[in-house]
Amino acid sequence: MASSNNGNRAAWLQGPSGHCELAPTDKVTPWRLILLGAPGVGKGTQADLLHQRLGACHLSTGDVFRAAGSRPDCEQSPAMRDALASMRRGELVPDSTVWELVRERRACLQCRGGFILDGFPRTLSQAVSLAQLMKSEGLSLTAVVSYELPAEAIVARLAGRRTCQKCKAVYHIVERPPQLEGQCDRCGGKLFQREDDRPESIEVRLEAYERSTRPLIDFYSNSGLLRQIEATGSPEQILDRTLPEIDARHLSQGAQQLWTAAENRR
Ligand code: AP5
Repeated sequence: MASSNNGNRAAWLQGPSGHCELAPTDKVTPWRLILLGAPGVGKGTQADLLHQRLGACHLSTGDVFRAAGSRPDCEQSPAMRDALASMRRGELVPDSTVWELVRERRACLQCRGGFILDGFPRTLSQAVSLAQLMKSEGLSLTAVVSYELPAEAIVARLAGRRTCQKCKAVYHIVERPPQLEGQCDRCGGKLFQREDDRPESIEVRLEAYERSTRPLIDFYSNSGLLRQIEATGSPEQILDRTLPEIDARHLSQGAQQLWTAAENRR
């Protein structure tokens, strides 16, 4: 089974020139989530399921880089060409490039439909920049979910992943195979293996996660936002584990908003 293709995310994927045709519905208390976890743990798969359940938009920085990579060379800035080379090697893209890309898409963070950030922030510097931007915009996070899985299971998920060239739906050759080998169930597009899912890049990505991203667990734990979830079992089982954890935070955020509104009316 493939994960969903998330509707339209033009404003996120293309930046300021893109306009979403299917803008998410405004919410009184929008869900604003960050998904953490090693490469291949299943963040993108969960983000799609959470998007279907909660309506918030799935915003992946990796998807922005891949969308830029599919444009002709002449449309890529030197910083983007360097970013794509880092990505192929499995290394993190420099903070300055990532932050520039997120900053110019800050309207997506302000969207009343909410967001599910996947793959950002990935370093302490990115987390601090995001916290400052959100504070200045008067936005608050609902929760930060960190998915946990042993390294050997992660490597198996990455090595078997196949992605649709056209609609970007994600499959796994063993766990979530397409009905016809090499072909997307949804749109008939050709399935391919990501360049950074080769063994040598996987090793570099896992090291980068341990060195640069794992420290974010303490960062968000200290602010009381963190929920750690075991990522074993089927995607639906993992979603069922996630929802009660984040529901409680969302309810208390909604109650807080009502209380503040009532105080302001006095
Ligand atoms: P990015 O695109 O963010 O990749 P990633 O974090 O490495 O995560 P993945 O997309 O590989 O995995 P996932 O956790 O989403 O798993 P998925 O759901 O696909 O980043 C790529 C690169 O861009 C980085 O290496 C870096 O170079 C650069 N970059 C991006 N953001 C950056 C930033 N902020 N700073 C610096 N650099 C940045 O699942 C994996 C497979 O498992 C699939 O085949 C799926 O079908 C299968 N699967 C999922 N769930 C299950 C399950 N429960 N059971 C069995 N199989 C499952």
